[in-house]
Amino acid sequence: MKPIQVGLLGIGTVGSGTFSVLQRNQEEIRRRAGRGIEIAMVADLDMTRAKQVVGDAAKVVGDAREIIANPDIDVVVELIGGYGIAKALVLEAIAAGKHVVTANKALLAVHGTEIFQAAAEKGVIVAYEAAVAGGIPIIKALREGLTANSIQWVAGIINGTTNFILSEMRDKGLDFDVVLKEAQALGYAEADPTFDIEGVDAAHKATLMSAIAFGIPVQFDKAYVEGITKLSGADIRYAEQLGYRIKLLGITKRADKGIELRVHPSLVPAKRLIANVEGAMNAVVVHGDAVGTTLYYGKGAGSEPTASAVIADLVDIARLHGADLAHSVPPLAFQSNTLGAAGKELPVLPMAEVVTSYYLRIRVADEAGVLAKITGILAHADISIDAMLQREADEVGGEGSNPEGTQGIPQTDLIILTHDTREGDMDQALAEIQALPTVLAPITRIRKEELN
Ligand code: NDP
Ligand code: HSE
Repeated sequence: MKPIQVGLLGIGTVGSGTFSVLQRNQEEIRRRAGRGIEIAMVADLDMTRAKQVVGDAAKVVGDAREIIANPDIDVVVELIGGYGIAKALVLEAIAAGKHVVTANKALLAVHGTEIFQAAAEKGVIVAYEAAVAGGIPIIKALREGLTANSIQWVAGIINGTTNFILSEMRDKGLDFDVVLKEAQALGYAEADPTFDIEGVDAAHKATLMSAIAFGIPVQFDKAYVEGITKLSGADIRYAEQLGYRIKLLGITKRADKGIELRVHPSLVPAKRLIANVEGAMNAVVVHGDAVGTTLYYGKGAGSEPTASAVIADLVDIARLHGADLAHSVPPLAFQSNTLGAAGKELPVLPMAEVVTSYYLRIRVADEAGVLAKITGILAHADISIDAMLQREADEVGGEGSNPEGTQGIPQTDLIILTHDTREGDMDQALAEIQALPTVLAPITRIRKEELN
């Protein structure tokens, strides 16, 4: 059979990995796919660099639309990134009857409904294994391997850059900015690294997993997003003392009234496997009613790990190209005509409705009666305390000590772990505690996930 003809849009980190893995393993891939997969054309703004990567093996152009206009191209692989030109090119490729493979989670989390709809109307595939957790085949696992299950929750370390930063800060005591630069040099970070460190990239991925796990539309605008930029070394150390690690988790969970969809730093018990996932590695835990808990682990970013997922999609397409797609696996796992109704029955819950437990660090004046007032407010809000620590400010390096106007006042950190409570109730209690004159600095609140 004639090799399937591929046009690559963007040959940066992931594009160059895709090119070289396809070249290196072409014979094995051909035997698996049942036909060859040939990158015939490559478009990149930097044509000189692109030519250095592909040599004479593919035609290099500067204008991606030349690829879309070429009737010989069967599949367009979008590896440019972002919501701008990438969206236009993906929609144009679909309109031209090409299958699309993309690693662009930002694009699908925000415009997925429009893109999948356009693909369905045109009878082409949009495949995106690389968009979530890089080389880990989590889309396939959720969409196909776990299809018998009513999924209860999914929680993952799904951003390599932030996990790398947290690991290096904890293990080597390195500064945030130094480690971020290293992550950028290693090709892990997004073009705009604020997407990584502010949790947006993880929220894009959690949004996609939420849609696939629960059969609801992609709804990035409903996700709660909090990154790692406000985490302090003190909290990382206190968490360790309490038997926890702090990880940036993407969480989506079936709750009584709807679906939780949130990304934020979380305390995870140090004994959990996922708490020990270090560096740029990713891990996703999925809990299904039939299978129980399953764990998926691997490289979540980087050139060849991500290429591995891109090529897996190409193999799927090579097998299906020319077949009747009516019976193929739906892009979001559930039949598309069921998504709207499910979205209404299972709304994404506002953060105030989320139920979880908490780590609180409260910098207080070290005087009699302070603790009683705080525990009184928590008790009044029906928030039950699980554990408590008191540490002198300078035991943790004095971070956050002596805020303006409090110089000379003896101060201490109260660290409180709570049992599960509604976030809205916690918000109210924290506002009351913050208003106490003996509370000397903004309260730190980190959510805690037992994942059991
Ligand atoms: P890069 O920035 O390394 O590569 C993007 C390439 O696209 C660059 O070579 C860029 O050229 C080129 N480009 C930009 N605009 C155009 C255009 N209009 N036409 C043709 N080429 C263009 O990004 P990555 O490879 O890291 O990421 C690609 C996608 O994969 C993104 O969606 C990203 O989120 C996703 N992804 C990345 C992972 C990773 O580990 N890096 C992992 C998983 C997903 P120039 O440099 O000259 O601007
Ligand atoms: N910037 C992303 C990360 C790339 O660090 O995980 C993989 O999606």
